Amino acid sequence: MSLSDAARAVRENAYVPYSKFKVGAAIRTPSGATHAGCNVENAAYPEGTCAEAGAIAAMVAAGETEIAEVYVIADCPAPVPPCGGCRQKLAEFAKGDVRVTLATLDGQEFVTTVSDLLPGAFTPDHMDRT
Ligand code: THU
Repeated sequence: MSLSDAARAVRENAYVPYSKFKVGAAIRTPSGATHAGCNVENAAYPEGTCAEAGAIAAMVAAGETEIAEVYVIADCPAPVPPCGGCRQKLAEFAKGDVRVTLATLDGQEFVTTVSDLLPGAFTPDHMDRT
């Protein structure tokens, strides 16, 4: 299954009783595996999790920690931009040049990279004083 199809399919399972805004995310790793996630909301609103966070959790649970490509899809007027927190979460596991495709349900796509989404990211290097 393509990354696009995986993101589109998992989006259907999003649990979004509050926003009604379903998002699907799929990650490909260097092994060729695909990991998918959807947003999961909560009555205590800040406890909800984004689709990207779900896909990252699935990847780590499967024993992988390197992102090779990302695809995010939602039903919106323009390709869905990941929130700030998810940009940081992606940067934890992806090199800056990793391709991120943001998409709409009706077929628009915007291709960007992790470093374009989060210029000047805080990384472990910033804690290295040796
Ligand atoms: N959301 C995501 O899951 N990913 C994004 O890239 C943008 C926003 C979710 C969070 C919340 O469940 C809903 O969309 C509305 O903000």
